[in-house]
Amino acid sequence: PAVALDLKEAILALKKERNAVILAHNYQTGDIQDIADYVGDSLGLAYHAKETDADVIAFCGVHFMAETAKIVNPTKVVVLPDKDAGCSLEQSCPGPELEAFLKANAEKNYYVIAYINCSAHVKALCDVICTSGNAVKIVNKAPQDRPILFVPDANLGAWVMEQTGRKMDLWQGSCYVHVEFTRDSINRIKAEHPGALVVAHPECTQAVRLLADEVCSTEKMITFCRNAPVKDIIVVTESGMLHRLRRECPDKNLIAGPTDRCACADCRYMKMNTLQKLHDCLANLSPQVELPEDIRQRAEVPLLRMLEQSR
Ligand code: 13P
Ligand code: SF4
Repeated sequence: PAVALDLKEAILALKKERNAVILAHNYQTGDIQDIADYVGDSLGLAYHAKETDADVIAFCGVHFMAETAKIVNPTKVVVLPDKDAGCSLEQSCPGPELEAFLKANAEKNYYVIAYINCSAHVKALCDVICTSGNAVKIVNKAPQDRPILFVPDANLGAWVMEQTGRKMDLWQGSCYVHVEFTRDSINRIKAEHPGALVVAHPECTQAVRLLADEVCSTEKMITFCRNAPVKDIIVVTESGMLHRLRRECPDKNLIAGPTDRCACADCRYMKMNTLQKLHDCLANLSPQVELPEDIRQRAEVPLLRMLEQSR
């Protein structure tokens, strides 16, 4: 429709005027993915945010992702379409709670590894960050002589323990979207598509991960689907991933993993962003990510360590 076309043209004109780059996560709606300069997983987005020479970063994802871009780019303007786009994992580990826990357990001298789905305050309290794309690598590089505390995702943490054989104490957070997939819901869709392969995100529960042929980050799902020897693949993650996968692997039949209640799973936070809000944040340069400089500096250290260690 003409209105949508006008909106897209207006966004592209504003992008040029502001010397902005549009970064989008794989869970964004198709129209946002299609207008973005780069679409990827948290790891790819962190590298892109670090390397861009644009003056403005318009970050279409959730708040912690835009905040990560600001941590490594203190002099750039980082805008996001909706400042209320949060994340249940971030909410499950408030900074003050982690700070109190570390104080109460100071004698353990924990090496703290934080999954990137957390606030800048939590990042500032940890030794290194990881994403689902590099968690195994980062945990393998952790010092052997210190116990590890892994925050905030207990499911991702359990999967990394299985992969590395390294024991870790796990913060009991979870992604409210990925824990909706169940053994029954995935077995049901498997029965409807005999011979289909299953790829699942490591934020899923162990019961679901055990049914998967591959467990990996959203970006690695693309390589898996591209190289899969069969046409039918069941994708057990947030629904936005299907748009990206269908574009990258047009010859595959990509089937959304269902939950017990729905045919697919949407992250309500990721879906708060719209083309109109993307336009408005570029036009108004608001909402912007702002961070106290001391927190930013402390959060940057473990983030740069991650970028270095995962090369
Ligand atoms: P990825 O880094 O694998 O894209 O995951 C991000 C996320 O929020 C998963 O729910
Ligand atoms: Fe957070 Fe889950 Fe949404 Fe990812 S899908 S942003 S982990 S709530």
